[in-house]
Amino acid sequence: MPRYASAVENFFTLRTVSWKGDRVVLIDQTKLPNRFVFTEIRSPEEMASAIKKMVVRGAPAIGVAAAMGVALAALRSSAKSKQELLNDMEKAALLLKSTRPTAVNLFWGIDRIMKKVYSAKVESTDEIKSITVSEVKKMEEEDVKVNRRLGKIGNALINPGDTVLTQCNAGALATVSYGTALGVIRAAVEEGKVVKVIVPETRPQLQGSRLTAFELRKDGIECRIIPDTAVGYVMQNGYVDKVIVGADRVTRDGFVFNKIGTYQIAVLARKHGIPFYVAAPHSSVDMEHDNEQVIIEERSPDEVVRIRGRRIAASGVPVLNPAFDRTPPELIDGIITDVGLIEKPVELNLRKYFGGKDRS
Ligand code: MRU
Repeated sequence: MPRYASAVENFFTLRTVSWKGDRVVLIDQTKLPNRFVFTEIRSPEEMASAIKKMVVRGAPAIGVAAAMGVALAALRSSAKSKQELLNDMEKAALLLKSTRPTAVNLFWGIDRIMKKVYSAKVESTDEIKSITVSEVKKMEEEDVKVNRRLGKIGNALINPGDTVLTQCNAGALATVSYGTALGVIRAAVEEGKVVKVIVPETRPQLQGSRLTAFELRKDGIECRIIPDTAVGYVMQNGYVDKVIVGADRVTRDGFVFNKIGTYQIAVLARKHGIPFYVAAPHSSVDMEHDNEQVIIEERSPDEVVRIRGRRIAASGVPVLNPAFDRTPPELIDGIITDVGLIEKPVELNLRKYFGGKDRS
């Protein structure tokens, strides 16, 4: 994977994932915040590895990146017939779907591209390749528009001077651009509101202190990092006006799957009477599954017991390292989506906006 360094622009417009001719360019998030480096992805295998290693991460970003991985398979294919080409794309789709199980956007992105080619009334492999590439470019542009729309809708909930606590990184780095939870903050800032952000560091991968704080600082938005263990403290002492987090999946029964730690933040927010909002684009809404059907990714114990390769925990002790948790609908004051604010009770109101099944 070729890499190149660059000066950081602002995160109001910067693209985390972009299609460039016959390859995909990603910001390598494993190197942040110390190095700002782009990496080029040229095959579905490279894309699968980038998603697994969290070079690219965040639900909407991996949705678009995975679809682009399928498009790379199409472009690299030497298939002579439509069927052979579809087989090559299906193989890539299967590989990419096996990378991370929780964020529904990954499956949404891959299914969307496959649906597009199956429904295309063309036979030539060149035409299918070009349809595939146009669709992923469209997905990239749509993601930016969706986040801006979501940001505007969420902005209505923000009062000037608010301090918002978030979790993990639901920012530009978790999407193609602009962000979801941080998109709401950006929309408020663009309207001239002063907003401060409290950023839990988000152990063990530190997406809060490494990525969210980096983005906000680059954009001149005031923020403070706290240890994850200080969430109760900041709420009890009146530092937090609102919580806004992202989502990896919202199930049809109104449960929100998001970065580990989100559930305990929601419980504490309720205890202290602080509104708890989720920001999620339509691609994160899964009207086909209930919460018990979702697989929560478990990651390597090394993420917990080692820092930069060095062991920091007692040896020989087993580790549980779930990457996500589920927050029940009764703790959620609203879900900010690109099609509107889903108010309480979210499990009932979700249906009004997203119907029974379809998530395309
Ligand atoms: O494991 P990650 O870093 O991919 O997890 C990301 C999150 O949990 C985000 O909060 C979520 O994807 C929403 S991003 C807009």
